Amino acid sequence: MPKQTLLDAVEFQRQSCENIGSPFYCDLLACALSEPALDRPFWDALDQFEGNPMSTLSTLRILGALHDLVLSGEAESLAATFPHGDFPGDATKAWHELDAVITKHRAFIDSRLESQVQTNEVRRCAALVPGFLEVSARAGLPLRLAELGASAGLNLCWDSYQYRFGDVTWGNDDALLTLETDWSGNHPEMGPIQIAGRRGCDLSPLDMADANDRRKLQSFIWPDQPARQNMIRRAIRATESTSLNLEKMPAGDFVGEVLDARQDGEVTVIYHSIMWMYVPEEERDTITAAIKEAGRSATATSPLAWLRMEFADSETAALWLDYWPSAEAPHVRERLADCHYHGTSVRWFGAGATS
Ligand SMILES: C[S@@+](CC[C@H](N)C(=O)[O-])C[C@H]1O[C@@H](n2cnc3c(N)ncnc32)[C@H](O)[C@@H]1O
Repeated sequence: MPKQTLLDAVEFQRQSCENIGSPFYCDLLACALSEPALDRPFWDALDQFEGNPMSTLSTLRILGALHDLVLSGEAESLAATFPHGDFPGDATKAWHELDAVITKHRAFIDSRLESQVQTNEVRRCAALVPGFLEVSARAGLPLRLAELGASAGLNLCWDSYQYRFGDVTWGNDDALLTLETDWSGNHPEMGPIQIAGRRGCDLSPLDMADANDRRKLQSFIWPDQPARQNMIRRAIRATESTSLNLEKMPAGDFVGEVLDARQDGEVTVIYHSIMWMYVPEEERDTITAAIKEAGRSATATSPLAWLRMEFADSETAALWLDYWPSAEAPHVRERLADCHYHGTSVRWFGAGATS
């Protein structure tokens, strides 16, 4: 790979860490960029990895691997340089530690370079739940949930958490985790929601009962973002007794199974957040066609909903709902809300909004 391609990808990630809030990673990557000798283990590991450094986000993959070693206690000298407690981290010292750490753990680093960056952003539930409330109010039936690209399944358990939508509180009063979001606009009907069942799929589901998978998920949260670390820990604890039915399969195959299993007396809700851009175009077309086809056979006792929180532009996500109430009633498509792509803010438009 041309050396400049690699340098550009690392510089891109350095800027992104600066803009999105990891001063420590920003400084660490600046140290690396100031000594771009390909025989240094950090650069050698990235250089030997065959994927495109920009599209695979290989810089985030190696940072995640290093953070994993810090979290597991395998790299104590590096851990001393990473942010912890009130200590903001010392990027210069961390950079000097990397030679020894990467050399010692090279097989692990290489294996993690081969696996995708994988997060599960729980606060997105604060944007999805108003959509579930809307579906529940329309259908008046229990929800049969099916999540595409569910990662660790933490957003399949959205009913385990409590929510503060601006000044309105909703959800589980005894929850270990409260998700707050800046809210603007009216609110949907805030009634109780019945859940008939839940299942999800992912190309590589993470099992939160497995310590390695738990740590892997945490390792992709930047070390100087303790609030997000704390949120994920609480979400894992809050959901440990929920049966998830997480299946390792592409969304295109999974949707077919979900649609075939529809039952009377339930509204089937297919949903996803920030995963659509990873799905190949052909698979997206398959999913869209299968859902539309199934919508034609919806009935008042088995309606179909497709709810999705996906990027609208580079800074905003939108919450879209497609709803098929029955074969006789018209299909509707509505843009229910705009939101921050981490769910930290929601601008609710509600029913009827399409632009
Ligand atoms: C950015 S993560 C978002 C995870 C979760 N939806 C959230 O909002 O936190 C995208 C997830 O989609 C999964 N994914 C990507 N392409 C997929 C596909 N074709 N079928 C199923 N899952 C897929 C990835 O493995 C990853 O877990």
